[in-house]
Amino acid sequence: MTDSLTVRDNRTGQEYDVPILDGTIKAADLGKIKTAEDTPGLAVYDPGFVNTASCRSSVTYIDGEKGILEYRGYPIEQLAEKSSFLEVAYLLIHGALPTKAEYDAWVHEITYHTFVHENVKTFMQGFRYDAHPMGMLMASVGALSTFYPDARNISDADNRHMQIVRMIAKMPTLGAWSFRHAQGKPYVYPDNDLSYTANFLSMLFKMSESKYEADPRLVKALDVLFILHADHEQNCSTNAVRSVGSSQVDPYSAVAAGVGALYGPLHGGANEAVLRMLKRIGSKENIPAFIQGVKDGNERLMGFGHRVYKNFDPRATIIKKACDDVFEVTGVNPLLEIAKELEKIALEDEYFIKRKLYPNVDFYSGLIYEAFQFPPEMFTVLFAIGRTPGWLAQWLELVQDKEQKIARPKQIYTGDRTLDFVPASERWA
Ligand code: CMC
Repeated sequence: MTDSLTVRDNRTGQEYDVPILDGTIKAADLGKIKTAEDTPGLAVYDPGFVNTASCRSSVTYIDGEKGILEYRGYPIEQLAEKSSFLEVAYLLIHGALPTKAEYDAWVHEITYHTFVHENVKTFMQGFRYDAHPMGMLMASVGALSTFYPDARNISDADNRHMQIVRMIAKMPTLGAWSFRHAQGKPYVYPDNDLSYTANFLSMLFKMSESKYEADPRLVKALDVLFILHADHEQNCSTNAVRSVGSSQVDPYSAVAAGVGALYGPLHGGANEAVLRMLKRIGSKENIPAFIQGVKDGNERLMGFGHRVYKNFDPRATIIKKACDDVFEVTGVNPLLEIAKELEKIALEDEYFIKRKLYPNVDFYSGLIYEAFQFPPEMFTVLFAIGRTPGWLAQWLELVQDKEQKIARPKQIYTGDRTLDFVPASERWA
């Protein structure tokens, strides 16, 4: 068997052999297929990149049919059960698990970079009282590029490492402060005695007590949620980070683009949308009418469906279990009953079965976040904190990949051509 594709162009009768490598053909090879030397070559039309590989990557492996998710080869189930978020972050960034000395040094570095410049605080205080925390996070991550202008030196490995440490360390500080801002409460400085996740909870919820120590079961549950969100190969926000990063801009600007992409309701904003949907449904009796509305195309069942997972989302399975641990501490969220019933009805319904629509990571995560007393606007911020090491691992891979170029898709032009411009003074006369 030859690893190539024979293409016959029926416009010209000419045949082409296109090499197949790793189950893909190079779009540039198709570009050689032309009707005449001076005409454009054949291109691929693929809105939303549904069947286009944009890079080679060794960060995350997903098999959507089998429901497999692995970071650097390690199954998500094992990482969620036995690792910690900072260890997973190390794994994603460095490509291998740390030794004890490497881990200690990594935790130390991250811990001692959690503080932000005081001007960042002033900058954040300038937002309106009702500013969405994702808007604040996006702007403040982007603003970090002005605090660290050396970050634009992306060809220097030590410099890249410094920015990666800073960003992973400061993201919870920015996220927590955007939360406190919305509540009109004073911003809480990081507590370097606490773990990454415990410190985040302290910056969120500490009031007048001298030390805020969250219930360790809640710390563990949130840490697991961060692990589950840490990377997901070429999703919308990672693609945004890579696309913007391909211009060789500094990583803060590239990650700010990722935060913007994550904000949208079809991506990270879905968990917020799920909770609003559950509240709107209100009680189990209203579920059939709601499902009918979805089937009639009036709306979507938020938290269901995935571009890649077509049998189940392994993250959803782990989160469903984490719900129990959290609700043991906080008491059961009454919306859980509606969610479970909604899931049951949808999974038995022909509409959802036929389209392979299953609960995704966002279906249950919002319920947990609400149990932590986060308002829905904060949910995507939590996703963003978890996703930061993934964005950075992908960015790091991008900037070192010799095959990468500035992202610049083609288009099929559908507009007018060669119109004669008539000045406004004549058109409106
Ligand atoms: N509710 C009802 N119908 C749906 C849903 C849904 N949640 N998702 C997909 N469909 C239908 C869709 O209408 C289409 O039907 P038809 O073939 O009759 O036109 C079919 O299923 C295929 O959908 P699609 O929109 O072509 O699928 P996609 O791969 O482009 O979209 C998705 C994937 C996640 C954007 C979509 O399933 C969706 O909008 N889900 C709800 C939002 C959500 O939960 N997003 C979180 C994704 S997981 C977190 C993350 O990684 O960001």
